[in-house]
Formats: sequence, structure tokens, C-alpha cells
Amino acid sequence: MADAALVLGIETSCDETGVGIVRGGDLLVDAVASSVAEHARFGGVVPEVASRAHLEAMVPTVERACAQAGVRLRDLDALAVTCGPGLAGALAVGVAAAKALAVALGIPLYGVNHLAAHVAVDTIEHGPLPEPTMALLVSGGHSSLLLVTDVTADLRPMGRTIDDAAGEAFDKVARLLGLPFPGGPQIDRIATDGDRDSIAFPRGLSARHDLERHRFDFSFSGLKTAVARWVEQRQADGDSVPVADVSAAFQEAVVDVLTRKAVDACRDQGVGHLLIGGGVAANSRLRALAAERCEAAGITVRVPRPGRCTDNGAMVAALGALFVARGRAPSGLDLPVDSSMPVTAVQA
Ligand code: KG4
Ligand code: ZN
Repeated sequence: MADAALVLGIETSCDETGVGIVRGGDLLVDAVASSVAEHARFGGVVPEVASRAHLEAMVPTVERACAQAGVRLRDLDALAVTCGPGLAGALAVGVAAAKALAVALGIPLYGVNHLAAHVAVDTIEHGPLPEPTMALLVSGGHSSLLLVTDVTADLRPMGRTIDDAAGEAFDKVARLLGLPFPGGPQIDRIATDGDRDSIAFPRGLSARHDLERHRFDFSFSGLKTAVARWVEQRQADGDSVPVADVSAAFQEAVVDVLTRKAVDACRDQGVGHLLIGGGVAANSRLRALAAERCEAAGITVRVPRPGRCTDNGAMVAALGALFVARGRAPSGLDLPVDSSMPVTAVQA
């Protein structure tokens, strides 16, 4: 039965070695080995360190996933793997492992787009995806608004960041506030003690003249600079930096623009569903403000639980299961790694 296919998904685009197994739309296991601690002292992900960590974690993580799910490799019906976008060396480890498994087991392999997988993961928790859905994908590497008419074939870019990704802005601002990497969760936590209205930080690409050309685009580098200047001024004046207030006001500037533009894109396209995914979707204030604004606009909002917003293998398995259920042809065994794979190419 095609809709109950047993699919194993592999994710290695950044610093998480993720192996997930689904049966149709049901998640059996989501095993993740993260190398984030190894990157912390560098203040960001180091590609060579990530590739080596994937190599070391791949076989144990596949074994752990199978053991926890009570599944033998030979029971699998299909494999899915992220082949882009992401770090080339890191992606190559996952794709090589998936090809080896596909050849050894004689089963089809789907090379898929990481961004589409961030969308597909929500089907595990909230059921079939209404299509069209507007997707707001915000993470350390990407920030985009996508009109999803078919998550296995058609994701149309509506807008994207013209400089830093949203998560990158969180990480950089956290760093200048002396908080450890990755900064998003730190700012999220500290901001709960701060006043989000205490400082008026700029809202990127929101002025009338910017909206003409960049209605659905984002920009976070000006905001990051504004936070840096504000902190420097405090220090120059000999005052202490109110980290909780700066965190809350910065976070508000990011999530205000994200939610405003996402709701505007839904209205523009007449779409009644908004899905938020990617690591920054774990942010508590983003989730709360999106719920508030979508309710006011009559839009249904779907956000996966925080652990499934950050990179994981279940998202790849979930997308793979949709490829199988929709009868899509598998990728060839010569499928390439594409570090800058465009979102318009859902499958390699
Ligand atoms: O999706 P993800 O795990 O990896 C990429 O594909 O980039 O996203 C990681 C990013 C990091 O920049 C991290 O700081 C951010 O997501 N992040 C958060 C939160 N949790 C993770 N940003 C804001 N609030 C959070 N709670
Ligand atoms: Zn991601």
C-alpha cells in the first residue's frame, strides 16, 4: 500500500545528523546527533568540523533509529535524503550514505530539497497539508516566504532575505550581547524578562518606498547594526547593557516584520493557511505573535513543535513518504549534492 510505505530519511545539511523513519504519515522515530557543541567555541558552524561529525555519527544514528523504531533495514520501502541546500561536505556524507543503503537494499532513493522538508515535517503532527499553503521558513541559513501548491513539486518563492537570515541575526546579536552560540534559544529565554517596547529598533524593508520593491522580502543586517550601535553607545556612556530589554526589543523587531509580511503574503494570494518552519520557528514570541495576527486575519497557522522546527531526519522522511504516496519517480543513483539548490527544485 503506497500510503503506508516505510521510509527512512537522512538529513546532514548543517550540524545535525538526523535519521527519521515514518510509515506513511506516522512518525516511528526521529534520531538526531548534533555537533553544535563542537562549533560553540567558534561562534558558528565550521563546515569541516560538521562533515567529520556527520561521518562519525551516521552509522550509529541509523542503527539507533532502526533499533528504537523496531525496524530492520530490509523492511524499508524507500529512502529520502537532503541533497541541498546546505554545506557541500556535510550534504555529501548524507547523500553517500543514502546511496549506499539504496544500492544495498535495492530500494528507491529520493534526493530532496531541505526547505521543502521543513514544510513537509508538519504533516506528521497536524495531518495532510492544505495546498496551497503559505510557508514562512526561518532558520540560520534561510529566510523565505513560499507559496506551496504541491510540496513535492511546486514551491514558489514570494520573498526572501536580501542579507542575513533571521537565525543568523539572532546568533550575531547574541554574540554581541556576550551570549553563547547558538544565540536564538538564549535570546528567546532572556527576552521573557525584558520589555519589548523599551527600545525602538528598526523594522527592515518596511518603509513605504521599500515595500514597493521588497514587499515580501526581509533584511536583518540593518537591525543587527542598530543593536550594535545602541550597545556601543551605552558602553561609551559608562552604563551597563540591559541584556533582557535589548533581547526583547530586538526579538520583537524580527518577529514583527516576519509575521506582518507573512500575513500580507497570505492575503495577497488569498491563502488561508500559514505554516512556519525552520529553527527560528521554535521562538516563543514568533509563535505567539503569529497566532495572534493570524487569528485576527482569519488565517489558520500551523507550526511544528519546537524540536521539529530545527533540522532533523523526520522532516526528510515525511517528505519522502509524500513522494511515494504521490507516485513520484525516484532520483537516479547519480543524484548530485547541490549546496545552493534552489527552492524551485524540490527533487534532484
Ligand atoms: O533550522 P535550523 O536548525 O538550521 C538551519 O537550517 O539553519 O536553525 C538554526 C537557527 C539558529 O540560527 C538558531 O539560533 C535559531 O535557528 N533558533 C532560534 C530558536 N531556536 C533556534 N531562534 C530564535 N528563537 C529560538 N527559540
Ligand atoms: Zn533547516
